[in-house]
Amino acid sequence: MEDRVISAKEQGGDKSWDLTLRPQTFNEYVGQNQVKSNLDIVLKAAKGRGEPLDHVLLFGPPGLGKTTLAHIIAKEMGAGIKVTSGPAISKAGDLAAIITNLQDGDILFIDEIHRLNKTIEEILYPAMEDFALDIVLGKGPSAQILRLDLPKFTLIGATTRYNLLSSPLRDRFGVTSRLDFYNEQELSAIIKRSAGILSVGIDDSSRNEIAGRSRATPRIANRILKRVRDYAQVKADGNVDMKLTKEALELMAIDKYGLDDLDRRLLSVIVENFKGGPIGLNTLAAAVQEEAGTIEEIFEPYLMQLGFLARTPKGRVATEKTYKYLGIERPEGNKLF
Ligand SMILES: Nc1ncnc2c1ncn2[C@@H]1O[C@H](COP(=O)(O)OP(=O)(O)OP(=O)(O)O)[C@@H](O)[C@H]1O
Ligand SMILES: [Mg+2]
Repeated sequence: MEDRVISAKEQGGDKSWDLTLRPQTFNEYVGQNQVKSNLDIVLKAAKGRGEPLDHVLLFGPPGLGKTTLAHIIAKEMGAGIKVTSGPAISKAGDLAAIITNLQDGDILFIDEIHRLNKTIEEILYPAMEDFALDIVLGKGPSAQILRLDLPKFTLIGATTRYNLLSSPLRDRFGVTSRLDFYNEQELSAIIKRSAGILSVGIDDSSRNEIAGRSRATPRIANRILKRVRDYAQVKADGNVDMKLTKEALELMAIDKYGLDDLDRRLLSVIVENFKGGPIGLNTLAAAVQEEAGTIEEIFEPYLMQLGFLARTPKGRVATEKTYKYLGIERPEGNKLF
């Protein structure tokens, strides 16, 4: 699972080139136009008033550019950025140490913010609202609360699992932006930019081909480009053309929708073992031997985007398109979608 070329999750090998390919400005950041123009206004307004930016929550499937956007925001604000993540903050003291070390206007980026534990979340509330940290001194009836003033920082939270965020936490963000999947044109533009940075010669039709198979996700587009480049280097002179692109994609077992064996297995289990559904998430997870969270976070968003899967209150359901895709006759009476 971890090594799937088309996993939207960050993999070990991504890190080395992530920094070179990561856009540095709104101009370089392709697509997400609504999010960008919304943020642009909030940013300009905050700058105009000479105030720190409102807290920002970014959510959406992995690999769509949340971390990238957080860095761009910091840069545009001319602010320092401190990066941490939900699982990295396990004690109240960890958070206190981080926040008290920020400067006015600095950005605190908390990735995977849905994984913060409850106690930490409760410390964040007054920190976000009043820029204050409440420290409890002593125990029992004689306990006292000491209120510590904090620098006026901006929290940027990122999450792939918006539904796991508690509503008091959600409510404390002034700006909430959802990142959407990218269309083929946008991905093609991203590949063009990346190929330029990596000095890969690639023609338009080849990059469109990769764009179409990248699961609407920039991280995957960049990863496939790298793989195709490697292939072209070993099999030819390093320039990427359509023939080499198709061969390399074939080798990676990525089909024209960007699906691989694991996706196909998931779909065919629903169709063949569970008559097209509805099937509960946990049952499905057990049947394909993946974690329920992985299915929800990695597999489903894109399959639903394609219309190959639907979520109903009773569970997951295969659609007309799923049957067509798998080339399986749809039984009568199974027509939820
Ligand atoms: N809008 C964009 N334009 C160009 N490249 C992009 C864009 N969004 C993302 N990328 C590329 O995709 C890579 C992955 O993006 P990023 O790390 O920001 O995703 P993420 O949403 O934070 O993912 P995760 O949920 O796994 O943390 C970046 O390094 C960058 O190269
Ligand atoms: Mg990220």
